[in-house]
Amino acid sequence: MKSISKTITEASDKVKETMNTAMNKSSNIVSGGGQVKDIGHLYYTDLVPWNPEGGKELHEFYQRLLTYILEFVDKTNDRNEKIVDFHHPAQLMEVMDFSIPDEPQNLDQLLVDCKDTLKYQVKTGHPYFFNQLSCGLDTISLAGEFITATANTNMFTHCMFPDYKKNGLRSLPKGLVMFASEHCHYSIKSAAMVTGLGTDNCVSVPCDEKGKMIPSELERLILVAKEEGKHPYFVNATAGTTVFGAFDPINDLADICDKHGLWLHIDGILAGCNSMNADYLFQQDKHYDVRYDTGDKVIQCGRHNDIYKLWLQWRAHGTNGLEKAIDHMMGIQEYMVERLKSMPDKFHLVLEDPECTNVCFWYIPERFRSIPHSVQKEQMLGEVTPTIKQRMMNAGTLMIAYQPQGKIPNFFRNIISNPAVKKYDIDFLITEIDRLGHDL
Ligand SMILES: Cc1ncc(COP(=O)(O)O)c(C=O)c1O
Repeated sequence: MKSISKTITEASDKVKETMNTAMNKSSNIVSGGGQVKDIGHLYYTDLVPWNPEGGKELHEFYQRLLTYILEFVDKTNDRNEKIVDFHHPAQLMEVMDFSIPDEPQNLDQLLVDCKDTLKYQVKTGHPYFFNQLSCGLDTISLAGEFITATANTNMFTHCMFPDYKKNGLRSLPKGLVMFASEHCHYSIKSAAMVTGLGTDNCVSVPCDEKGKMIPSELERLILVAKEEGKHPYFVNATAGTTVFGAFDPINDLADICDKHGLWLHIDGILAGCNSMNADYLFQQDKHYDVRYDTGDKVIQCGRHNDIYKLWLQWRAHGTNGLEKAIDHMMGIQEYMVERLKSMPDKFHLVLEDPECTNVCFWYIPERFRSIPHSVQKEQMLGEVTPTIKQRMMNAGTLMIAYQPQGKIPNFFRNIISNPAVKKYDIDFLITEIDRLGHDL
């Protein structure tokens, strides 16, 4: 099988060839042929669109940029490369010029800026990057991002808000309250804040030891709110919580919502949905099929077309391909849990049986190994966790997020979200964390 880096190099050659052809065509149009001279000393005003004769020079500029991008992609997929060349902010300011100059900078300088920006980036697509949110660098999806940025269209629609826009919260029933589990993502509380509901009106529902919302607790709190004369209207369930990756019992919650006439929203990391279905919010009398307007799904108006890259990625993988990727990552999670369980002296799992691809654990340095596990020991392990993370960042060899959860002190939350991760990457992770932390 071809290595990723070889495939990328071949793809890069192909792109360069295509760009060369395009460049030669454009040079014929622009100046009747001839090679592009060094463009480094030129300025943006020498390029299309500012200079209609500057097509050839623009192609050369992008060709150089593409080389840097492909070098970065190569390094991201090279297990021998560091994830990050870590610099503190003050050090970064010494090695990079962040100033906003009064005078234009030439293309050489702009290319150096772009190259340096990539040089000091965290390579979130690296197979040893196990922090949250990034899910590998899907190179097809990246192509989609290029297309979106190039087309530069906008997803806004002209919107007409109903009474709420005029009268604000006064137009809504008094005492609105919503419910979300104590493990929900913090953005739910932020939403309560920015919508004017107020965070006190976002009621936290207790979870069981796996981090799942307890349905009987939800119903109890709805009844308490009603007794207080409040107006419960909304429940946020989570399909894969941020820290434990727990799935709330959606069917049981849906029954309670039905019974009390509440809106159930599912906030999902791997699968979820959100639609206001608010046809009345948006003009319906346009000259095209308004079902394709997406404006009622978010609160902002002008915004980037984020969905295109997902569409392109989905076409490349097919639904079966995406399913396989999820199955693969769940398999890697099982492998990792199994391996950690086989080394109880070095690792302690916070959750023995995770539901999603989050693996939450403490690493146990040598001096703690003879102490039996207890709440006090968890406190001690919680104290060394940030130091191990600091060593990881300085070494640039591994990145895993950590945080506390409720009363549980700091622990590592290893997210397997990159389908390129293999079992041997988990073996590396285990060896590396042991190397970095055994003497603490
Ligand atoms: C369960 C859950 N909901 C919501 C979010 C926030 O999503 P976004 O970054 O799209 O606002 C996250 C992010 O980690 C999450 O884990």
